[in-house]
Amino acid sequence: MTEDKDRLHVLQVTDCHLLPDPEATLLGVCTHASLGAVLDRALAERTPDALLATGDLADLPGPDTYALFLATVREVYSGPMLCVPGNHDDGADFEAALPTADLTVDGWRLAGVDTHVDGEVGGSVSGDELERLHTVLTEWSSNVLVAGHHCPVDIGCPWLDRHRIDNGDDLIGTLVATHANAYVFGHIHQQRDLAIDGGVPVLGTPSTCFQFARDTPGFALDELKPGYRWLTLAADGSVESQVGRVEDFELNLDLTDRPHLAGRGGKS
Ligand SMILES: [Fe+2]
Repeated sequence: MTEDKDRLHVLQVTDCHLLPDPEATLLGVCTHASLGAVLDRALAERTPDALLATGDLADLPGPDTYALFLATVREVYSGPMLCVPGNHDDGADFEAALPTADLTVDGWRLAGVDTHVDGEVGGSVSGDELERLHTVLTEWSSNVLVAGHHCPVDIGCPWLDRHRIDNGDDLIGTLVATHANAYVFGHIHQQRDLAIDGGVPVLGTPSTCFQFARDTPGFALDELKPGYRWLTLAADGSVESQVGRVEDFELNLDLTDRPHLAGRGGKS
């Protein structure tokens, strides 16, 4: 990649689904190994100016799993990082272990929004959180990238659309009204580059482990490889982005390898 020092380069990783045991697998994938492979590949391309981790960082949440996530990232990257929780995360443990404060980098505000509700698969943004976000976006008069876990709109996968942010319209309304420059999210384990009314890019990013198939009514895996997204932010507020994948990572997908999914009905 070229130097391109005039723009900010933000790396997004999402849906790492780590387990406390770094050797453990989920759906046949060693999620710790795939996160490591994603970080190695992305950081070989360039050193990020900031890193966003957009939820489901743990599959089995707890201090050990979050310590593993942090150690895995910090082994290769020491810069600014913002983490937001997903439906598999535990709010209190997440907050205690990981950096969750908004970032200010080179005139850009990188703002998190908490779309998770402990114990629920679906997303929702509480009134307090929406008000906090609105205040942040209003007070920061320059460029803002907002990061959350869940998708605010339907994507044509009914089993995932059930879990979109239930008040996604409110979030979109806030993003549009405050002229946010983009919203990035995870949860759907697939790439989506959506255009919404109001012109704010809404960008869904592949998981660092296994991917879900597009446009299927129910749970289905895709063969696509672990991924990540680069967001290139310019001083004029423009956002360019590019998804990368670790094409040589062997997935060994195995639908029977889901001990932690038992009884939770294809929870994403
Ligand atoms: Fe999720």
